[in-house]
Order: sequence, then C-alpha cells, then structure tokens
Amino acid sequence: MRAYVLLVASVAALGGLLFGYDTGVISGAILFITKDFALDTRLQAFTISVVLIGCMAGSAVAGGVADRIGRRWTLLVAGLIFLAGAIASALTPSESVLLIGRFVVGIGIGFSSVVAPLYISEVAPASARGALVSLYQFAITVGILAAYLIDYALAGGGAWRWMLGLAVIPSFVLIGGMLGMPESPRYLFKIGVGEKARAELQRIYENPAEVDREEQSILMSLRTKSAGIEAFKQPAVRLALFIGISLAVLQQITGINTVIYYGPQIFQMAGISSASTSILAQALVGTVNCVMTLVAIFFVDRIGRKPLLYAGLSGMFVALAALATAFAASHLSGSLGTIALVSMMVYVGCFAFSLGPIVWLLISEIFPLQVRGLGMSLSTLANWVGNFLVSQFFLTMVERLGRPATFWIYAALCIVTILFVRAMVPETKQELLEQVRVGA
Ligand code: BGC
Repeated sequence: MRAYVLLVASVAALGGLLFGYDTGVISGAILFITKDFALDTRLQAFTISVVLIGCMAGSAVAGGVADRIGRRWTLLVAGLIFLAGAIASALTPSESVLLIGRFVVGIGIGFSSVVAPLYISEVAPASARGALVSLYQFAITVGILAAYLIDYALAGGGAWRWMLGLAVIPSFVLIGGMLGMPESPRYLFKIGVGEKARAELQRIYENPAEVDREEQSILMSLRTKSAGIEAFKQPAVRLALFIGISLAVLQQITGINTVIYYGPQIFQMAGISSASTSILAQALVGTVNCVMTLVAIFFVDRIGRKPLLYAGLSGMFVALAALATAFAASHLSGSLGTIALVSMMVYVGCFAFSLGPIVWLLISEIFPLQVRGLGMSLSTLANWVGNFLVSQFFLTMVERLGRPATFWIYAALCIVTILFVRAMVPETKQELLEQVRVGA
C-alpha cells in the first residue's frame, strides 16, 4: 500500500480519535463539574448524556451533507464543530453553556462517525480497505484511553476545563490536515469531474490496470443505480439498509458501552471497592481495547470480516456468560473480583477485533455509491440511538432485573448477532466497493 493512502486515512482517523476522547472524557470531568455547578442527580445525568443527543442529530444529517458538499469538506466541517464545542465547554461560565458546548461536540462526533469511515473506505484500495477503516476504530480506542489517562492525571487539581478543552489540539490537526487532503475519487466521479477523479485513483494505485478496473467499476455503478431516496425503492438497497441498521444496533445492544462508560461501577459491583484500583482496572480495559484492535487491522483483509466476527462474538458470549454466572453465585465473594476483571478484559478484547471495527467497515461497504452517504447516516443514527438506550438504561436494568439477568441478556444478543451475520452479511474481503453485493 502507498504511504500516501496511509497518510490520508490517518488524518481522517483523527475524527475517530476525537469521537473516542470526547465520549470518554466526561466520566472523569463530571465529578468536578457537579461540584462547581452544584448539579442535582438529574442534571448530572443530562450533562453526561447530552453529547449522545448531539451525536444522533449530527449523524442524521452528516450523510446528506457529505453527498452534497463532498466527504473532504464534511470532515473539515466536523473539525470546526469539534473545535467550537471544545472551546465553549472549556470556557463556559455556566451549566447551560456547558450543555450547549457538549451538544455541539456531539454533533461533531455524529458527523465524523459517518464521514470518517465513509471517506477512508472510498479512498482505500480494495486490498487494504479493512485495515484502513479499522485504523479509524483504533483511533477511537486511543481517544478513549487518552481520555481516561488525562482525566486521571488532571483529577488531582480538579481541572475539568482542561479535560474538556484539550480536544482543541486534535481538532486543529484535523482541520489543518483535511485542508491538505484530496477529495474521495468516488465522490469526484459522482459529481462528474472524471479527470480529477482519475488523477486521484492514480495516486492510490500503482498499477495502471488497477486504476482502469476501479474506474470502470465506479462508472458502471453510477450508470445503473438511481440516486437519493428513490434508490431505497430497490430491494437490494433496502436490504443493505436493513443490514446496516441491524449491525449498527447490534454493535450497541451487545453491551460494549456498559463497560466503556460504567466500568468502575461494574468493578465495584464485583467487590473491587477502592477507587484507585477501579480506575486502574479501567485504564487496563482501555489498553486492551486499543491493543486488540491491532488484531483486526492485521487480519481483516487476510482472513475476512465474517471469521473475525464469529471469533470475537463467541469470545464475548463466553465472557458475558462467565460474568453473569459469577454474579449469580453468592459464595464467590473472594474470587468474584478476579473473575469480573478477567471476563471484562476478554469481552472488550474480543469486541475490539470484531464488532468494534467491522461494523463501521461493513456499513461503509454495503451501500451503492449513489446512496452511500444517506445509508451510512441512517445506520450510524441507529448506532447512536442504541448507544443512548443502553447507556441510559443499564443501571436501571441492573436494579430491576439483577446483575446475572442483565449480563445474560447481552450474552444472548451475541448469539443473535452471530446468527444474523451468518444469514445476512456478505463477505466483502478484497472486493472492489462497487462489486459488494448484499443478499446474493
Ligand atoms: C463503538 C462505540 C464504543 C467504542 C469502544 C465503537 O466502535 O461504536 O460505541 O464506545 O467502539 O471502543
């Protein structure tokens, strides 16, 4: 693969870094914000979740914007939104401005969660597309880990404004970087500037025969597919949408963000009572999340998307079942902490090389070019709705249903996901984007 392609994907992946950082950072900041603005529990919960409402709003419109003004400009706009949101949140004089700032940050995350994987997928050569979109997921995990560590480092001084404000640095790099990046060749073909599009393809592929092959396949797809909402009348496009939305929702309802957002609380349920130990354990979770994403980067174009999904989901099932069983057995008290810790590491590690990256990858692959932005927007919106529901109701579920039942539900949903992947998801390894077919 050319270094140029890696550079383009890395700059776009900064959108992922900000996604991870901005969703992770609030967990540490909230303690001090609550004190400074004297928040009651309701307002505290809203300060945490308002970002997700922004994510829904942002992801709902981002695809349409990306189809209209292009992938590159949309990602640049995302950078500006991140910047504005970070500045407002960090310098806020009041709780209400903070809420607005965090909502704006959420819109930035919503934008980048649609456009970054879309852009990377359209710029990547078919042979490395899996690895390059997984790089985006890797950046999300780096962002989450950085947020945990920065929160930890700044907690001593209660410096929550710095915690929220440090996001301006990657925002600037994203904006500056995108100014120097090219538009996706597929988008250029779509708007009819073939010369420029071809020149971009030549920068991606070394071999002229590959440039020709890719160009033919893109032009063919543009000729045969109708655009906009109309396209969703075609059964194949509707099926792609069904698969995209389902995968996006399944990524969330198998429970990942219970661990990412509520890790320390789960450790406390398992009897790890010291605050510093549970923060350390959470940093370990973040590290496993990061490192195991490398496994996907390495294997996803070699052994394919579906085998990784099967392996990861099976591991997630076993880990959740172990966690549920441990919570059910009252006499485990001593070893419960260890079992919980190990299960959560295994669970996150398995997510990190499967459902994490591969859902973003697949939803960037299954839609035809004419409706790719729209299709990704709708799928990503569903992902954020799922995220919102799980994170809002996790603690209530634990309270009403009990811990074992809660984790058994997530475990069962891993099995549902395996069956869904088997029945519905196409293997897209090494295929040109335009040759990906659903339902064949
Ligand atoms: C998911 C996020 C999750 C993150 C964890 C992403 O793929 O969409 O909801 O927090 O992975 O690494």
